[in-house]
Amino acid sequence: MSEKLKWWQETIAYEAYPRSFKDTTGNGTGDIKGIIEKLGYLESLGVGVLWLTPVCKSPMCDNGYDISDYTSIDPSFGTMEDMDELFAKAREHGIRIVMDLVFNHTSDEHPWFIESASSRDNPKSDWYVWRDGVDGKEPSNWRSIFGGSAWRYCPSRDQYCLHTFAPGQPDLNWANPDVRHALYDAARFWLDKGAGGFRIDAITYVKKPDEIRWSEKTDGEDGMISVHDMTANQPGILAYLHEFKREVCSGRDVFTVAEANGVGPDELKYWVGKDGAFDMLFEFSHINLDFVGIELWCKPQDWTISDLKKALRDSQEATRDNGWYPAFFENHDKPRSIDHFLPACPDKKLAAKTLATILLTLRGTPFVYQGEELGYQNASFASLDDYNDISTFGQFQYAKDEGFSDEEAMAAVRRFSRDNARTPMQWDDTPNAGFTSGKPWLGVHEDYRSDNVKAQAKDPDSVLSYYRALATLRKEHRALVDGDWQEIMADDPCVIAYRRANEQETIEIYANLSCNAITLDATGSVLMATGAYETGRLAPYEAVILAKS
Ligand code: GLC
Repeated sequence: MSEKLKWWQETIAYEAYPRSFKDTTGNGTGDIKGIIEKLGYLESLGVGVLWLTPVCKSPMCDNGYDISDYTSIDPSFGTMEDMDELFAKAREHGIRIVMDLVFNHTSDEHPWFIESASSRDNPKSDWYVWRDGVDGKEPSNWRSIFGGSAWRYCPSRDQYCLHTFAPGQPDLNWANPDVRHALYDAARFWLDKGAGGFRIDAITYVKKPDEIRWSEKTDGEDGMISVHDMTANQPGILAYLHEFKREVCSGRDVFTVAEANGVGPDELKYWVGKDGAFDMLFEFSHINLDFVGIELWCKPQDWTISDLKKALRDSQEATRDNGWYPAFFENHDKPRSIDHFLPACPDKKLAAKTLATILLTLRGTPFVYQGEELGYQNASFASLDDYNDISTFGQFQYAKDEGFSDEEAMAAVRRFSRDNARTPMQWDDTPNAGFTSGKPWLGVHEDYRSDNVKAQAKDPDSVLSYYRALATLRKEHRALVDGDWQEIMADDPCVIAYRRANEQETIEIYANLSCNAITLDATGSVLMATGAYETGRLAPYEAVILAKS
């Protein structure tokens, strides 16, 4: 059924990891001026929303997800003038900037934390989650998401403070209304500057359980349990989030997409849509198929294409009548999608095109992560020293502590490290792929000489050309944007297939995610295909988009 869509439902969103996007100063890390330089490139991909991972002032223990001033720009990224210029120039390219709100925690260098930690009776003493120790130990046996205890001892208070992530990322106390209102002020600051909306970080953790104590249930040899299992998605959290919506977003033509690990498709109705707190939610059931619950890289589980189909189906159906889906296969925390979802496909270009076909034709706003439009693969680093990610080091240590060998721990890192998706953008075949004239903060992928934006732009058969064609197709065939979604071949274990239809047209999408050819009982004219589609037969890993007459 056709419906009136909002601007952010009609477009394609792109996630940039500014540190790895384009460096204009030669210091080896990307910057805002680099993003401005590439706005034309983003426009050529049909992008209307650009989500920037955090660019605020930060000591960078987690590459910007540890903010020490919410209304500033980190000097490594440039200045506030650069940012203002980005807002203005992006508009000229039809692109709205989306800021990343990291509101579960601050940096431990944030003045709020410095004050809060200074004594038990300062004005901000309860702005963070402080607890007394128990029998000379931490208040609970919770393991932080990056590894090790989730509690950090602070001698000036003789107390512990909670950090869901790194010790340098202490959790804010959302139970204190002053904290919430200070955060809302920061969010409004960016809207006043012209932001088109927010991606909201780690939001499921902001409400802490009423009781914090040692858990008898543990999930590792270390006698601990992941903080995620103890704090994600606590009863009462939605009241805070509705307050955020009212105070920050109401009356403004902006959108929100929240990162909500721990919320499944069955709960989407409470989180998004007419009565939900957000416009969209990144829920992770299709991305986290490798894990039962929390990500422990050395303990992955097997999954099948049917599992992937189910996860996608569940979220499409959950947002059919209420809410809107942010389709995504990659982000700055996850492996590259062709290695993640189609590791056995011998033709990487084909794998990238097939996944792109799904990403850009599911019902929802597609979120493309930098490099995905070029079919990038995981990093191929030789040793742990080549990585530069706090989570990677924590996961390696966890694997060692659980009794895995160095080789096994490294295999887990190679497969799941967040740095897989953080290698610098490959713009051309000059040294360091045209990303920087200095030494890049993280190694450039070895394939950059042949595989880069400049080369792919000239090649009509490249992944980039395929993405651009898909973006054009979405503009020409509105059913791909506003049509409803109906699964076909639901029982097939290898083919993801669905119909998008509005009152004017019906389009069918078929993607074979297996290494076997499949007989296809489908008719229609070919709008796009990953290869030389032969009617009635889907070749291994082939995808086709058919218009029904
Ligand atoms: C989110 C971000 C991730 C960050 C974490 C802590 O999951 O995507 O990169 O490390 O939150 O802020």
